[in-house]
This record gives sequence, structure tokens and C-alpha cells, in this order.
Amino acid sequence: MWKLASFDACFVNPLTSQGMVETMRLEDHQALVHTAAASNLGQMLNKICIADGVGLVNIVRSRQQADLLKAQGARHVCDSSAPSFMQDLTEALAATGATLAFDAIGGGKLAGQILSCMEAAINRTAKEYSRYGSATHKQVYIYGGLDTGPTIINRGFGMAWGVGGWLLWPFMQRIGSAGAQKLRERVVAELKTTFASHYSKEISLAQALEPEEIAVYGKRATGAKYLINPNKGKQAPAATPSAGRRLSPHAQFAFEFARRRCKGTGRLIEECGQENGLTTRRLSSVCPCCMSSE
Ligand SMILES: NC(=O)c1ccc[n+]([C@@H]2O[C@H](COP(=O)([O-])OP(=O)(O)OC[C@H]3O[C@@H](n4cnc5c(N)ncnc54)[C@H](OP(=O)(O)O)[C@@H]3O)[C@@H](O)[C@H]2O)c1
Repeated sequence: MWKLASFDACFVNPLTSQGMVETMRLEDHQALVHTAAASNLGQMLNKICIADGVGLVNIVRSRQQADLLKAQGARHVCDSSAPSFMQDLTEALAATGATLAFDAIGGGKLAGQILSCMEAAINRTAKEYSRYGSATHKQVYIYGGLDTGPTIINRGFGMAWGVGGWLLWPFMQRIGSAGAQKLRERVVAELKTTFASHYSKEISLAQALEPEEIAVYGKRATGAKYLINPNKGKQAPAATPSAGRRLSPHAQFAFEFARRRCKGTGRLIEECGQENGLTTRRLSSVCPCCMSSE
């Protein structure tokens, strides 16, 4: 049986991870770099790249994250907290030929470091020296803001480079409805494999506003994604006594209320029902003959 958790992640992350690979193809690159790569999205991208034979350099910030991706079959994982990070990244870029990076972090020096390492990897096979650097275009797309600080670029990578923003919906417009449909079809076909998501907790919409919950999911930590279920904690609607329709708990109360009659005359003093989805109260709540509300 399909559950809510199977459907929640049908859209943004599955389409975005596929969008990265499609952008690579459209813009004539041969492999990818991804930052914060142990994220929910990063794990999807890792699976897509393995399945499609696309080179991927995963950048993470801890040993645990590197182990997690390697256990899922990742070939190139560089830990930015390791002293050898720049050398490791250059090696992985030389091995894959990646000249396109998707950066979820945004703030700090990482985008510039990626461009520097790309240039160093490209120059390993340069036939001649140019004071303007290599002619190969290197691109970083910032697609998230996990670090909200300024993006610091130390330009040491020639003149053929770009840093820009990337967003799913403009990309979907760029590939048109037929292209977008292809991506959606893959999501449906691989919803329980490539695009399966893990949730550490399911909370209601109201719980999502509680400070103690915000303190946890606001960290955006690896493997700590919350599933917000707007219907959590709501009672299933009960059947009405009359038409057998399913009404809200309030409407059910209203129907029971309508059965009350004046104790003296037996006359119906109040009647409630549903009209066009709205609870309507007819007659008076006070008996017109004895003015009783009992
Ligand atoms: N542009 C678009 O159209 C688009 C579409 C979809 C998603 N996104 C973006 O994609 C990113 C990933 O989304 P997700 O749902 O997959 O995230 P997620 O599962 O919540 O994972 C977030 C990851 O980022 C790491 N992280 C958090 N802050 C960091 C920082 N300052 N520096 C380095 N790593 C950091 C976490 O590692 P730790 O455990 O070490 O904290 C974790 O691995 C988000 O930024 C989201 O906004 C953008």
C-alpha cells in the first residue's frame, strides 16, 4: 500500500537531482561535482549517476558522510574537513573531467575552491601556457543557501568560468513540457528506489511551529529530515445519521443537536444540517412555545 511518506518526495528533490544531470548534458559537461552531498537530494543524485554511468564528485564535510555515500556505491567522495581536501578534490576532478558543480552551501570559499581545483585538474594536460588560464569553461551553480554568509571567490582559475544561480522551476520551463514529463515518469518508476526518502520523524502542521521541533529540523542535518503531515492528529469524519454522508465532527454534533425537542410539547426546537458543505442551523435554539432551551 502507498503511504504518505512514499508520495511526499515526488517533486522537488527527485526533479532537482535529475535536473542537475540534464543541465550537465545540455551545457556540454561530462561529469558533475555536488556539495553537501550526503543530503537527501545528494543521495538521490548519487544513485542516478551510478545508474546512468555519470561521473560524480561528492563533497561532504565529515568522515561519517563520506562513509554513508561510499556505502551507497559512490566512487569519488572528498571530505572538506580533511587537510588533504584540495589535493583530493583535484585528483577526483582529473579522474572524472567534471567542469560543472552544483553547490547547495552558497556561502564561504567552497565555490571558488572548486573552480581552482577544476582549473588545476584541466592544466595537468595543458599543451601550452596561457596567462589567461585554460579555455575550458568551468561553471558553479549555487542552488541552495545552507551557509547564508557571503560567497567568497579568490580568482585563481583563469578567465573561463561562471558562478550563477540555479532553480528547479526555471529549469523545468527551459526543458519544456515533454522534457519535464520524462523526468516525472522516472520519479514514478523509481519512487521506492532511487528517490526513496528517509524521515526521522512525522509531525503535524501545528507541531512544525513548535520551537523544540524547529530547533531540530532547522539544523538541516544529514538524515534528520522531518515529514510534515497536515492531517496528523485529525479525527476521521463520522457518518451522518440521516443521509449516511461523511461530515466533519462539528457537523455530526450539529445533527445530534437537532434531535432535541421541547420537553413539554415534543416540538422540534432546533434542526441542523449541511448545505453545500456548510453547517446550517434552522429553527430556534429556544422553544417558541415555552421559551425553554432544554
Ligand atoms: N534550487 C533548487 O531548485 C533546489 C531544489 C531542491 C533543493 N534545494 C536545496 O538543496 C539543498 C539540499 O536539500 P535536502 O533536502 O537534500 O537537504 P537535507 O537532506 O536536509 O540535507 C542537508 C545537508 O546539508 C548539510 N549542511 C547543512 N548546513 C551545511 C553547511 N553550512 N555547510 C555544509 N553542509 C551543510 C548537512 O550536513 P550536516 O549533517 O553536516 O549538517 C546535510 O547533509 C538545500 O539547501 C535545498 O534548499 C534547492
